[in-house]
Amino acid sequence: MRNGIAVIDFGGQYAHLIANRIRRLRVYSEIFPPDVDPAALQGVSGMIFSGGPSSVYDPDPPAFNPGLLGTDLPVLGLCYGHQLLCMHLGGEVVAGEVREYGSARLNIAGGTDLFAGLGDSQVVWMSHGDVVATLPEGFEILGATEDCPSAAVGDAQRRIYGLQFHPEVAHTPRGLDILDNFLTICDAPRTWTMGNYAEVVMEEMREKVGDRNVFLLVSGGVDSSVAFVLFNRALGADRVLGLHIDNGFMRKGETAAVEVFLKEEGFDNLMVKDASDDFLLGVEGLVDPEAKREAIGHTFLEVKDEVMSHLHLDADQWVLGQGTLYPDTIESGGTEHAALIKTHHNRIDLIDELIAQGKVVEPLAQLYKDEVRELGSALGLPDHLVWRHPFPGPGLAVRCLCSDGETDGRDIASSERAAAEIASEAGLQLQVLPVKSVGVQGDFRTYSHPAIVSGFDLDTPDSDWRVLEDMSTRITNSVPGVNRVVCLIAPDVLPGLRPKRAFLTYQRLEVLREADAIAMRILDRAGLMPAVSQMPTVLVPLTTDGQDEVVILRPITTPDFMTARFAELPHDLVRDMADEILNLPGVAAVGYDITHKPPGTVEWE
Ligand code: XMP
Repeated sequence: MRNGIAVIDFGGQYAHLIANRIRRLRVYSEIFPPDVDPAALQGVSGMIFSGGPSSVYDPDPPAFNPGLLGTDLPVLGLCYGHQLLCMHLGGEVVAGEVREYGSARLNIAGGTDLFAGLGDSQVVWMSHGDVVATLPEGFEILGATEDCPSAAVGDAQRRIYGLQFHPEVAHTPRGLDILDNFLTICDAPRTWTMGNYAEVVMEEMREKVGDRNVFLLVSGGVDSSVAFVLFNRALGADRVLGLHIDNGFMRKGETAAVEVFLKEEGFDNLMVKDASDDFLLGVEGLVDPEAKREAIGHTFLEVKDEVMSHLHLDADQWVLGQGTLYPDTIESGGTEHAALIKTHHNRIDLIDELIAQGKVVEPLAQLYKDEVRELGSALGLPDHLVWRHPFPGPGLAVRCLCSDGETDGRDIASSERAAAEIASEAGLQLQVLPVKSVGVQGDFRTYSHPAIVSGFDLDTPDSDWRVLEDMSTRITNSVPGVNRVVCLIAPDVLPGLRPKRAFLTYQRLEVLREADAIAMRILDRAGLMPAVSQMPTVLVPLTTDGQDEVVILRPITTPDFMTARFAELPHDLVRDMADEILNLPGVAAVGYDITHKPPGTVEWE
């Protein structure tokens, strides 16, 4: 490997993000599996051990080459990586008394180069259960949080450090400075730039595609648009065909807007196909989020095959181009030790088969959203496209929850008592909802219950989102079975909500489409589009009268979508959105998601 930082990947959701951060600091970085031979790392300046979904006491942990701790290279272990290196060097790891997810305050012991310039304390992002209880010889405590006395440890002599928190995520605000300090400790050369990335990647694309052509599904989002432009530039428009499929899960007016935009940009090699009936048929009667995703992914490929055969395109002469980003792969459990969080539509089994046959080319697969945007700008795409809010491939289908109408009441009563007690300290009432949504905690997927609180007075100027944030974090950290908290906005009083039998139907999608259009219009008019990274609107099959359902607003801020904070929108704006949405036929109540990621994901599924 060229001189830089080797990231040892234990399967953590953020392992690759570490490499992204290191590249941002202008140091080359590459990812290696934990059983790599240290000889392969000759010439590197240092190593970072990533987090991972395992516990060091798991019967079947990722195979680790202990020789990696026998070199005299500096090492920084993060989360699982920190626990693993402490254990291998003679320390002890135990199950922590409190699971910690989300923000915590790190009190810094002082005097360590790793925290140079960071003062006495910092906000850090935690996501773990186990903790280091006994330090290896030569190690000292460099920082502690209230719940984790060994949050930062190290042996300055050997230049080996361990952090229980995640400096690589954006929600450790000074995390980049910590990584920067580690690079200084490693004396790593700062020479890497992203400037020539487009050239390098286009060369790779030409090589992979060979003398074949490329068929690309173009949703119109930034990823597929940047990929489309790259393929056109790399191969020439006559060897590239784009297909925009209207799957019926698009936003109001989206397909027409995409068609106009790409034509305006001069792309004539784009076809549009309305296949909404096929997609609705594919998801008929489904409730489970993964089953929905699987069905949608399959329909995409069926429609693609149908169009290709209609155009008499020889399947051996056409490869599939995709705008897959790195997070799509990692969340689909697609790196060796990663847990499945969700199957992205571009990562279903059939695509994996095509990949194995060398029939898929993904020029953006190493990148994160921020890097794709940088690349898009470098390619000359206009800001309004490059800075669009992302929209998932399965679209509104992952924002329209389904239910067979049964109350899955297990554990709800005891969870509700515990959560309600926490809410009551903030003067709020709480109900645990009899539906489930997807979340992510400690590198694992969760599928459990949201809770809704009511009594928060949005119209009082001194009411503060912070009260809700603290409460939400306490509930999801300490109440088993609750992975999300929502604040009721309208009406004022929490109605008793019960589940409703509801699937993905045209009628429900229309309600959601209208609600989404209202929320986006109000956000746009307030000029707040750029301040918010994404704002899903979610339809939840909970009802008071057997008909009308609950709509949830889910605005978030995040630079990379791997972690996120719920956005704190101005109260009057939220009130306007909620009042207008509540007026729609089919809507019983409007709530506001006050959960960070983790423990909630952006989408509810
Ligand atoms: P989650 O829900 O995993 O979302 O926190 C993170 C980001 O990924 C988007 N997302 C998808 N994008 N295909 C996509 O192209 C998908 O299947 C998919 N699922 C989630 C989501 O909208 C958010 O921006």
